[in-house]
Amino acid sequence: MKKLLTILLVSLLPSFAMAAGGSAYELDHYPGDISDTASLQRGAQTYMNFCMGCHSLEYGRYNRVARDLDIPEDIFQEHLMFTDAKIGELMTNSMDTESAKEWFGAAPPDLTLVARVRGTDWLYTYLRNFYVDASRPMGVNNRVFPNVGMPHVMAELQGLCGSIPLPESKEVVDKQSGKLIVASGCQEFYETGSQTPEEYDQTVEDLVNFLDYMGEPIQQTRKTIGFYVIAFLLVFLVFAILLNREYWKELH
Ligand code: HEC
Repeated sequence: MKKLLTILLVSLLPSFAMAAGGSAYELDHYPGDISDTASLQRGAQTYMNFCMGCHSLEYGRYNRVARDLDIPEDIFQEHLMFTDAKIGELMTNSMDTESAKEWFGAAPPDLTLVARVRGTDWLYTYLRNFYVDASRPMGVNNRVFPNVGMPHVMAELQGLCGSIPLPESKEVVDKQSGKLIVASGCQEFYETGSQTPEEYDQTVEDLVNFLDYMGEPIQQTRKTIGFYVIAFLLVFLVFAILLNREYWKELH
């Protein structure tokens, strides 16, 4: 019995560790929906434009993404592929790991599985919490990934927050001037971007949705199959109960 309890406790240890790790900073809740194809398409577009140059998705193929996201292959090739790669190829890029380490202090990792490693809440928070920090080589820092080597590549959309963003603060607009005071946790913008805070949140939501899909492309199909399997079992249960009654009728 004692042995059993010890085994149980040891097997629970990783979950305690994860719970402790998560409480170091508060994460915003990621509101996305993987069955929303339009959102996945927008996410793919953002990814190809802003991320693919540094981060590959080398466990996925272009044509698989095109098929799953209902994008015709010729349109995908024309608007979403910026190299001379073929549509059937793996989604690699030509970033040289050694030079990248020199430039950023760390090589940009492949992001195919990042949504499964970090989780969607983490990604959603990370991509919205960059802020100006002159002491860093790229001039920016990040609330959930302190001293990150990555520059804020979507600063032209979000703008650049002037100080460390506060978790969970809602947007506040100054009534007299109409000026934005607090948005997405940002107290004051050092530089404004081309999108409003709501638009930027939507952009990041779509992008994280796309990364969630990349981490498990079969996810939507898996859920649909699961639904039909459970529905079949429920229908089958009715017949099994009726048959069971029929068998036992004579014996009672
Ligand atoms: C200019 C190159 C560059 C671009 C463009 C870029 N990143 Fe990064 N990214 C990096 C580097 C370098 C790191 C590693 C940072 C470190 O470990 O300090 C990184 C790290 C990350 C991480 C953390 C990975 C982990 O688990 O440690 C995520 C997530 C990420 N990037 C997402 C994105 C997304 C999404 C985009 C597109 C909007 C993007 N990046 C665009 C350079 C880039």
